[in-house]
Formats: sequence, C-alpha cells, structure tokens
Amino acid sequence: MSRPDASPAPGPWRDARTRCDRTRAWGLLVAQHRQAGCAFDLRAAFAGQDGGAARVAHFSQQAPHVYADLSRSLIDAHVEALLLQLARECGVEAHRDALFAGQPINHTEQRAVMHWLLRNPASVGVEQAQVATNFIVQAAGEVHATLDAMLGLAEQVRQDDAITDIVNIGIGGSDLGPSMAVKALDDLRLHAKRLHFVSNVDGMELGSLLRTLQPENTLFLIASKTFTTAETMTNAQAARAWFLAQGGRQQDLARHFWALTTNLEAAAQFGITTTLGFWDWVGGRYSLWSAIGLPIAIAVGAENFRALLAGAHAMDEHFRSAPLERNLPVRLALLDVWYRNFHGFASRCVAPYSHGLRRLPAYLQQLEMESNGKGVDASGEPLPYATAPVVWGEPGTNGQHAFFQMIHQGPDVIPVEFIALRRPGRDLPGQHPRLLANALAQAQALMQGRASPDNPHRAFAGNRPSTFLLLDALTPEALGALIALYEHRVFVCGAIWGINSFDQWGVELGKVLAQGLESRLASGDCTGLDASTAGLLAQLR
Ligand code: F6P
Repeated sequence: MSRPDASPAPGPWRDARTRCDRTRAWGLLVAQHRQAGCAFDLRAAFAGQDGGAARVAHFSQQAPHVYADLSRSLIDAHVEALLLQLARECGVEAHRDALFAGQPINHTEQRAVMHWLLRNPASVGVEQAQVATNFIVQAAGEVHATLDAMLGLAEQVRQDDAITDIVNIGIGGSDLGPSMAVKALDDLRLHAKRLHFVSNVDGMELGSLLRTLQPENTLFLIASKTFTTAETMTNAQAARAWFLAQGGRQQDLARHFWALTTNLEAAAQFGITTTLGFWDWVGGRYSLWSAIGLPIAIAVGAENFRALLAGAHAMDEHFRSAPLERNLPVRLALLDVWYRNFHGFASRCVAPYSHGLRRLPAYLQQLEMESNGKGVDASGEPLPYATAPVVWGEPGTNGQHAFFQMIHQGPDVIPVEFIALRRPGRDLPGQHPRLLANALAQAQALMQGRASPDNPHRAFAGNRPSTFLLLDALTPEALGALIALYEHRVFVCGAIWGINSFDQWGVELGKVLAQGLESRLASGDCTGLDASTAGLLAQLR
C-alpha cells in the first residue's frame, strides 16, 4: 500500500487563539472562584424543593451512545456561563473548525490532525466537512482503501485455523488503544484466536509469552507509527530471532510477521512484506482507528470494527455541530479547566465500573497527559497556569478497596469520573446490580458525606465532586463514542490552554540519554555523569 503525500495543502490557518489567561472570562472566573468557589456546596445545590431535579436536568445530557450526569460537579449556571464565554473568547469553535478542515494545527510538526477522518463513513463523503479540500478528499479515498484492505486481512486471519495466537508488538499509542479495545470487546471476540499485547522492553514480558507459543501458529504484528521506537524494534527483533530459533524458516517470516506503520521503507528493511500503512496526520495516541486497529478487527471482525468507527463518527458529528452549551466534550473540558485552573485540583480519578474497561485509565493517561502535559503556549511562551491533571484510576469496585479512602477523607479533592453500563456483557446472576449499586453509592457518599461529631475518624466531609457517564452496553458503537468523547474533550482543553495537544517532544530527552547509558552500562565509563547516575550505574554493574 503506497504511502500518500500527507502534507496538508497550505492554507490560511494560523494559530490565532487568545490565550485563556488574557481573556475577560478568565478574570471573571478568578473573581468568581475567590468570592464563591470554595463556598459552593453540592448538598445545598440539591436542597431545593425539587430535590435537585432541575439541576440534574440542566447538568445532564444524552450525547451519542453516552449519557452524562454532571450535576454533582462543583459548578452552577453562572460559572458554566463564564466557562462558555471563556471557550468562545479562546476561539474553541474556530480551532475545532480548523481541526475538521485539515489545517496543520499540529504546528510544531507541520501536520494536520485528522483521526476523525478515519471514522468518516465512505457513504457520507467529505463534502460534509466544512472545507473539503483536495487534501482531505484524497486522504479520504486512501483511508477507505486502507480500511478495506485491513478488514480483508483481518478476515483472512480469522479464517486461518493455523493461526491461533496474534501478538501485537507496539508501545504507547501502538499498544494502549488496541489493547484496551480488545479487552473491552471481549464478548465479541472470536474465541479461536488469542490476542496478546507486548510493549515493554523488559524481556520478561515477551520472554514469558514466547514460552507459551508455537511459531507455526503465531502471527506477529509489529505496530509502530515510526518503526523506529527502541522498545518495539528490540521486541520485534527478539521475536524474529525466536521464530527462526524455533525452526521457523526464513521464507515463512512473511506469513508470520506483518507491519502496521507509516514507515513502509523501514518495515521492508526488516524483511516484512505485508504492511498496512497510515499517515503522519494520525497521532500515535489517536491511531486505534487506523491500521493500528488491526488486532481489534481480528478479534471482533469487520462489522464490529466498522461499528466502532460509526460510534466515534457519531460523537465527531455531535462535537462538530452541537452548540457549546449542549456539547458534551466541551462541557466536560470546561469542567476540567474549572477544576484545574481555578480550584487547583491536580488529578482526576477515572473509575470504570466495568471489567471490560479496565485498561481505559491507562489509555486515557497517554491520551490526556501526553496531549496536554505541556508548559508552553503555541508561540513557545512559558505558561503561568497549570495544564493536564494527573489522570489515574482502576476499575470499580477494586478501587474502593484500595484508594477510595483517600478520595473520601484525604485533604485533597479529587474529582471522580464514574463510568457504568446499563446492561452487562457476560455476567453472573445478580452481580451487575451489585456493581451498579456500588457505583451509585460511591457517587452519593462523595457528595453527601457523613457527620460524626463524636468521632472525627469516621466523618466524611462530603461535597466531593464526581461525574457519571453511562453507556447502554459495551458495544463497539458505544466504545467508539466514548473514546471519541475523550479525544475531543482533550482537544478542547488544549484549545483553551493555548497549547499544541498533538506533539510529544517531552518524551525525547529520556530516549536520547538511554542510548548513551546503555553503552556506559556495558563499559562502566562514568565520565561526566552526575554522582547519582554514576553511583547507580556502578551498583547495577
Ligand atoms: O514516545 C512516545 C511515543 O512517540 C508515543 O507518542 C507513541 O504512541 C509511542 O511513542 C509509540 O510510537 P511508535 O508508534 O512510533 O512506535
């Protein structure tokens, strides 16, 4: 599959966002928080004659496949109006339009950002895009040709009885998205196939897996946008060496090693002949919709993969067209900004009450923190305000027996995002209601708190914020919509903070230093090293 010319057409776009702290709304929000922010009490907000029904109606909404209840947030209509004003003053709508117009909004790498195009149905065409440039029209054609080819290959693997184990070797966006989605859609998985995900350069991970595999039954997918990532290349070479050492023949490598990458030349040099390509306008952490999604398609089949794309597309359309007031990614992002920049909350806990979504927090860590963990604005000026919070979590109810203690009684306020399913997937009798009751109870307890005049150890302060996202079931459509919801939320936060959410220069320095240290570990040469690194290096030798 040939790689397209991915450079966006030169356009009139330039980053003309007003930085959030220079807007009028920002000043008003600072004043509002100073006057009333700390005094806001959720219990009081729910204490009216209607028991908070009007508040719930106002702060809840149904978006495609996702129902959201934001009523337990530390926000009222006045703050919400100021936050919407902030979004408008920061040019969120114009920035969103630039995204969907294929403008090079990843300006530090001169790239468009078009993961949304990967889920644009062929039947819809790109005419509906506000500005359907030739660049987008050409890219859309290549997207669908690649998608068809990928789903064809997935079907081939699904029907190949000799292949029982598929090993995805990739890291970051080339691992977290597919790995999370395959687990989430396990009910739909073809049970004759086992999907494995290897990411760490720690040989224990691949080594332990290889002990369980037979080369003739194994397909390795080398997933790497760049095909240069050290961990992935190391594991890919180790897998190839193992394959040959186990009696696999050189001429069989083509059948057992495929590549998912934008770097077709490097894949060819590795000796791979079956390669699915994608484009530089697909960011690594936004790539599960591309060829990187092949393990998902193998696991659940073409129809379900298309349903995943359709769910995401429905959320794209919602984000693109809903007014900001009823636009769920925007509303969630505004809450994030309110909490991070005005309340100073440094983290957010994601608690999926769904075993299927157990890897969602890990996936979101890359999506949110690699995208928005930035310290300079679009023009390179240092930011005087905070950006991405720490995102962390574990599935419920496990988290309740680990860290919820701190969320209920610790001095830091940590907003919690509950995610639950109306209908369970595979379940045992009576367990789903018990799971749901726990999610509801935690949200209730966080808000209500409990007085304990005689024993402060048993007191719960309450007034702790949470949001509640509800999916009908863990269908491919719902999962697609949920992921796209988070992607757009991250985008809106980045637009308000005035940062480039689509580069990741912060990962470079460690990579470079690791190369130098690897040879020093072998040689023992500590010349020029700081004393701590030198001391540890000596210990390790
Ligand atoms: O090091 C960070 C990163 O570049 C991520 O952004 C990316 O998802 C990951 O490494 C893997 O990159 P690649 O797909 O090119 O191997």
